Amino acid sequence: MITDKIEQLLGEVQMLSAQNADEIEQLRLKYLSKKGEITALMADFRNVAADQKKAVGIKINELKQAATDKINALKEQLATTEDTDNELDLTRTAYPLPLGTRHPLTIARNQIIDIFQRMGFTLAKGPEIDDDLHVFTKLNFAADHPARDMQDTFFIEQNPNDVTRNILLRSHTSNDQSHYMETHQPPIRVICPGRVYRNEAISARAHCFFHQLEGLYIDKNVSFTDLKQVLLTFARELFGENTEIRLRPSYFPFTEPSAEMDISCHICGGTGCGFCKHTGWVEILGCGMVDPNVLEACGIDSTVYSGYAFGLGIERITNLKYQVADLRMFSENDVRFLREFEAAN
Ligand code: PHE
Repeated sequence: MITDKIEQLLGEVQMLSAQNADEIEQLRLKYLSKKGEITALMADFRNVAADQKKAVGIKINELKQAATDKINALKEQLATTEDTDNELDLTRTAYPLPLGTRHPLTIARNQIIDIFQRMGFTLAKGPEIDDDLHVFTKLNFAADHPARDMQDTFFIEQNPNDVTRNILLRSHTSNDQSHYMETHQPPIRVICPGRVYRNEAISARAHCFFHQLEGLYIDKNVSFTDLKQVLLTFARELFGENTEIRLRPSYFPFTEPSAEMDISCHICGGTGCGFCKHTGWVEILGCGMVDPNVLEACGIDSTVYSGYAFGLGIERITNLKYQVADLRMFSENDVRFLREFEAAN
């Protein structure tokens, strides 16, 4: 019976072993070549009853696959032992080697950094755990100002009488800027990417941590026009050369005047769609001219220097590029989600 023969060969194939490349080649000829045992089965296959042909065909394919796999495994084994005979190769990797992907937030962050670096900004980094002095006070947040509620965060240590002993998770990366201004004099041209925290209920649209990138430019005679041109260039580099921007008046304690910047919706091109709630515009960042109080608090002479600052959420930009429906997916580490970005790396 052909099925007995298949079972017998399957048993044999699983037990195969070889000492060297010649023996492996002999096995390949015996089982897999045109004159081999498996091809020979095809002659008998013609006589199998029609209603059993399908089942037997599947069995033969399984056998062929098993023989191919086994012989490949023997070759791989031989290559490894030959190597260890000569010398130990610690750089040898375990095959197959799964290729990882960059996280979508990293992809977007790198693109943003690249654009600003080409415009002459350098990177600055600050602590995620910081004191009230650098996160709020030096940035012109009055102790009892409601703007602090907009950035409610997590406190590690609270001390009502001493802002340097109020330790908290930073609610924005602007603290990097207070540190940078304390230690550098203008011209200053930095971007600060990093993780920030806020006391928010976790949902598809909000999380207790997210990522920001802020920029700071301080020199003599810096004007709002400079800010606008830099942001327009940034928006066009990131979203395409037909992108338009619009600035709407806003409020931040550390900038005056302040604005929110929208870009023309790159999904509908500005004509209106579900994504931009039919307005043709989507908000992407906050910006403004650095308040002189901030410069003075950080040791920079506000009668000589002026500057601008801007801050954007990296999740938001990533969503605009890739339309991730739920913010939580960014931190769940589900490889099926991460694999979606293989092509974007
Ligand atoms: N720090 C602000 C925020 O987190 C963003 C911002 C930065 C706005 C710089 C203006 C200037 O909301």
